[in-house]
Amino acid sequence: MTPLPLHPSVLTDPAYVVPAVPDAPLGGVAWLRASVVRFSRDEAHRRRRRLAVAELARIDPADLRRQAASGAGGPVEILARALGLPSDSDCDADTDARTDTPTVTDIAADVATVARCYQPHMPVTDAADRAVDRLVRACGGIPDEATANRIGLLVQACDATKALAANLLSGRTDPPVPRTRRVGPDGILVEVDLAETFFGLGPHACPGRPHAIALAAGQAAATTRKAGAGVGAERLCPYEASDTTTAAAVVVRDGDTDVPGGSPVSPPAT
Ligand code: HEM
Repeated sequence: MTPLPLHPSVLTDPAYVVPAVPDAPLGGVAWLRASVVRFSRDEAHRRRRRLAVAELARIDPADLRRQAASGAGGPVEILARALGLPSDSDCDADTDARTDTPTVTDIAADVATVARCYQPHMPVTDAADRAVDRLVRACGGIPDEATANRIGLLVQACDATKALAANLLSGRTDPPVPRTRRVGPDGILVEVDLAETFFGLGPHACPGRPHAIALAAGQAAATTRKAGAGVGAERLCPYEASDTTTAAAVVVRDGDTDVPGGSPVSPPAT
């Protein structure tokens, strides 16, 4: 019988650590896993987390929301553009013409391929290894920690944000990412339930929460508009905030292009 997932409080317990990933030579999914904040511990985690937080601090969630609501692409495309991808170093300096440069659509396709193999318990495909190498080039071609964590942001954003947008549209309140994993003090891998805390808790809690909510709300608004819902049609969808006692809500409106990113508008009844 599969054991029940643990309560999310273990995410704040230092005895429970993220699953270890082995060191890996440059390139491919193994290198990505070994270099991102998501699967790091201790000092490497703190250093990489600073990189990810600094990248995100330069991106205004309200801007992401406007872009998503105006139909400028899916969450990964919009985030990639906000991160300045594809990198300028892919430009031919003399002509300013792009040389074999991927579009944000190419980048999003590669990110989706990588996302399927990102978690350490998932098998890695050759296609995902090649996709990581193309993403490194799209990020400027230097396979360092900054590049890995930039790719990590896109991969983290990929499926979860789409799932949240789908939930907003359908009025569902289940978690976009139902579970995460930790290794307990006895060395045993355990699952942790995220139903009460969609964006995690503790040192690995999601640093992209406002960006995710903004992208998902904008995306849901764009879909609503495409479906021809009347102006003013409004869906108030509650979802859990980053702790278990506060709930927040996000409004998705037809024609929603200027609502600040992810601002809670009214707490649902508890
Ligand atoms: C609805 C969408 C999202 C959900 C539900 C979500 C949820 C989570 C959760 C639960 C974790 C913690 C995992 C753990 O502790 O094991 C996490 C980590 C992370 N998320 Fe998100 N996320 C979302 C979107 C995003 C977006 C849009 C970004 C970037 C812009 C992002 C960046 C990250 C990063 C970098 C980490 C790793 C943090 C660390 O290990 O210190 N996420 N996310």
